[in-house]
Amino acid sequence: MNKVRVGILGLGRWGMCHLEAFSSLGTAEVVAICDSSPERLERAGKEYGVANLISSADELVQRDDIDLISVVTFESHHLEPTLKALQSGKHVLVEKPVTTRPDEAKAMQEAAAASGRLLFPGHLLRFDPRYAAIKEAVLSDRVGAPVSMYLKRSREHYLFETFQRVHTVFELMIHDIDLAIWYAGCRVRSVKAYGRSVTDSGAASASPEVLWANLEFENGALAVLQSSWMTPDQAGVEIADAIEVIGRSGIAHFETSNSGLQFWNGQGRLTPDTNIHAKLHGQSVGCLREQLTYICRCISRGEDPVVISFADAVHGVEVADAIAKSCATGREVVLAESIEL
Ligand SMILES: NC(=O)c1ccc[n+]([C@@H]2O[C@H](COP(=O)([O-])OP(=O)(O)OC[C@H]3O[C@@H](n4cnc5c(N)ncnc54)[C@H](O)[C@@H]3O)[C@@H](O)[C@H]2O)c1
Repeated sequence: MNKVRVGILGLGRWGMCHLEAFSSLGTAEVVAICDSSPERLERAGKEYGVANLISSADELVQRDDIDLISVVTFESHHLEPTLKALQSGKHVLVEKPVTTRPDEAKAMQEAAAASGRLLFPGHLLRFDPRYAAIKEAVLSDRVGAPVSMYLKRSREHYLFETFQRVHTVFELMIHDIDLAIWYAGCRVRSVKAYGRSVTDSGAASASPEVLWANLEFENGALAVLQSSWMTPDQAGVEIADAIEVIGRSGIAHFETSNSGLQFWNGQGRLTPDTNIHAKLHGQSVGCLREQLTYICRCISRGEDPVVISFADAVHGVEVADAIAKSCATGREVVLAESIEL
């Protein structure tokens, strides 16, 4: 089987994780990387031995030696490179949030259909063995159809300085929106959301530091989602997430802050995440690698993805948009007709 030839657009924090994970796959070859910062480009090319260093996104997507483009730029700048890459015959992996606007998400979906190429949303938690096991249990008698879901995501506060660049619903909660849609297996009917600022930097920001959203699905299932940037930096807990799914025949539950591994030293305690993207004996491991492996397999075999769904991602952006509106107005938002009550 030929290797999937990959081009990566955006070499920031997460784009470098894409580069590292793709480079450790036997089924992929990173042919070209692109960033508007020459220093980042140079450094990444040297570290991972990539020959083609490109500063223009247009030039990257026009190359004829690439099968898949990973779009890993800023959250609100995914539309243009995704459309151009699809139009020039590339498959595209577009990071979460696929965009921050429902009309753009639909435009991407339509462009993929018109091009006949595959479009993958970067919803990597579907490749976390724990969240995937809950999906299996929801489909079986172990948990059964969800009646009530609680999903929580909490990150260290210093990250807020960077990631307030988009609303918390698009940065953090979008993961849980996607999981809740996956588990419920249907569309969201209505949302009611609340946002709060805690610190002075939070009060000065357009994005809430704490965000709650209540979701009601068309099949009656309920979800409560909670995202926050309030884990104190000094606590040393990179990821403090939790989930509980109450189904018709059982309950699934996990919580990550006591994940086991801890380091104690003069700087305090650190509980690192080893689940999303980590290194094992120099090789990349974690759900990012699993997601990229799956995407390369779909491309090599010419199969549509079934584990991740761009249609779900489009609905996820609609739900996120409704949450942001509800948060701003204090009103319930009904999705089907987008009528605010
Ligand atoms: N799936 C996940 O768990 C996960 C985790 C982290 C980030 N992300 C997502 O990945 C994306 C990138 O996040 P990040 O933290 O790496 O951002 P970042 O700000 O660290 O990096 C963005 C990079 O893109 C480059 N860039 C932007 N526009 C460009 C253009 N037109 N041409 C060339 N280069 C360009 C910038 O120079 C920068 O290096 C976001 O959508 C983010 O939400 C996903």
